[in-house]
This record gives sequence, C-alpha cells and structure tokens, in this order.
Amino acid sequence: MMKKQLATVLDYYREFGFDALPFRLEKRRAVPVLSPREPCDEATPAGNSDACTGRDAALLALRGKIGDCTLCKLSGGRTHMVFGEGSPDADIMFIGEAPGREEDAQGRPFVGDAGQLLSSMIEKMGLKRSGVYIANIVKCRPPDNRDPEADEMVACFPFLNEQIRIIAPRIIVSLGRIATYNLMKPAQPITKFSIMRERGKWFQYQDVPVMPTFHPAYLMRNRKDKWLTWSDMQAVLARLDELKTKDGIAR
Ligand code: URA
Repeated sequence: MMKKQLATVLDYYREFGFDALPFRLEKRRAVPVLSPREPCDEATPAGNSDACTGRDAALLALRGKIGDCTLCKLSGGRTHMVFGEGSPDADIMFIGEAPGREEDAQGRPFVGDAGQLLSSMIEKMGLKRSGVYIANIVKCRPPDNRDPEADEMVACFPFLNEQIRIIAPRIIVSLGRIATYNLMKPAQPITKFSIMRERGKWFQYQDVPVMPTFHPAYLMRNRKDKWLTWSDMQAVLARLDELKTKDGIAR
C-alpha cells in the first residue's frame, strides 16, 4: 500500500477513536510467494498475481514439480499418486502412513474405512475435514498394503517436508508408528519403535509441535484404545487454543 493510502486509512481509524489498528497479526511462517508470471495451474491465466500467490499456489506448484514421480519403485504400481488434501491454511495437519486401495483408486488420502474413522474423529473435535490438511509419509500405495520401505520413505519425505513448510500448521498429528517415526527420526531402528510408548507425548518437527497417536486402522482393530487417541486429541485442542491465544487470535 502506498504511504498516502496508508495515511488515509490511519486517519479513518483515528476518527473512529482507535489509537491502534484493530488488526491481529497472525504469527505464522512466511507464505511463499510465487512469481506473478508463473501460472499456478493450467486454468489460471499467467499474470493473475492475486490467484497465484500464497499457500494454495505453492502447493499446486509443488504438485506440478512432483509430476509423474518415478523416484521409487512404488510408482510402478500406482493408479493415482495421493498428494494430500485439505485447507492450505490449516492449523492442524494429520499425517498418515501410505495410501491404501481406496486412496490409490481415488487419488485422495484417508477415504477408505480408516479414513471414515479419521473423518469422524476430526468432526468430533469440532473441526471440518476440509479445514485441516491430510497427507501421508509416502504418496503411492505399497503393494498389498505392506509397510513402506526405507528407500521409499527417504525418496518421498522431501515432498511432505515441503508441504509442511508451505502450510506451516500450528500442530501436526502423526497417525501411527510409521508417520511418527519418520517425523521424530529417533536413534533406534524402526523395528524397535513403539507407538504404544510414544503416543500422547509431544515432540517437535522443525518448529511445529507434533502429537503422536494411534493410526485409525489400528483403532478399528483395537476399539478399546480409542479413548487414548481421544485424550491425545483433547491435548491437541488445548494446545491449539493456547497457541492461538498467544498469537492474539479469537477462538
Ligand atoms: N492409511 C494411511 O496411512 N493413509 C491413507 O491415506 C489411508 C490409509
């Protein structure tokens, strides 16, 4: 905004009796800004800088960069890559392990049975599925839903890391052992890593607090443990409130 316009705006507020601007500054990491000449997708005309800036465009650009990835052997068996979906401005990002059959067929994360449980948990938290962001450690389905292998996770992780950097969520929820292990990167081998031991205990990924909890597929087989995940989600909601209050954002 030009200096003169800014002065007019300030005068306007002063006339209404404000001695400070009635805005809250959201403390989040900088939103990457694309060059206005770089179209964010085929449908967006180049040069439309309003439509081509911010997290949305940065995610689209990342999707474009990943293209028809062949960095690992999972690419050979996929129907669709599952990039991730949700709000680019999400406060909470849920991270699972890998797409299953239904996700591979639709190209969307958590749309099978485990996904229904995740969606209902998100709603019980008072949130909308479209208001959070959901992604996985690997973006292509491992054959027969086996665990992703080390080389596959290593190849795919930079893409997730970039999604996290762009979205800059206030909180990450890691769903299950594989997601938690990859974000926590502990010294012990993955075979020794127990989600039962780690769930419910905050850790940091970059500067984002992460709450590890059970994977919804585990909860479908072990319904008695659902209350533990529910208590983890209560901790997530309380921390989110705290972080927003600290940043002066109305709840
Ligand atoms: N399980 C996962 O970890 N991710 C999905 O997207 C679906 C099932």
